[in-house]
Amino acid sequence: AAPTRYEAETATISQGAVESNHAGYSGTGFVNGDNVAGSYVEWTINAPGAGTATLAFRYANGTSADRPSDIAVNGATVAPARSFPATSTWTAWTTVTLTAQVVAGANTVRATATGEGGNPNWDYLEA
Ligand code: GCU
Ligand code: CA
Repeated sequence: AAPTRYEAETATISQGAVESNHAGYSGTGFVNGDNVAGSYVEWTINAPGAGTATLAFRYANGTSADRPSDIAVNGATVAPARSFPATSTWTAWTTVTLTAQVVAGANTVRATATGEGGNPNWDYLEA
């Protein structure tokens, strides 16, 4: 089935804000997390069945440094310090994809900043 898009601006945000000053995002904006370790966005996604899901994170990182983020599904880290490399500008959005095991129905997907730079700007998660 085609993936469902879950906008970051409708996810749960800890230490961050919805903004719209960098063009190219989907929906009504993106999430700019505070530039601290521990800031996060948590999406709730719906899986049609248990098994392996593809998680596609669209983001921008207009710095010259990586913004690694711990990716957790239902509270368990599935991709520690996943790399979200520089995209050159804050309007250059790109997608990082990974796979993870999900249960049927609702699943949480949390991306937690690991470094003092915080997370990249988040546009959406498709799953
Ligand atoms: C700039 C940019 C923000 C971004 C921030 C950062 O302030 O405008 O969108 O989140 O840098 O470094 O995280
Ligand atoms: Ca930020």
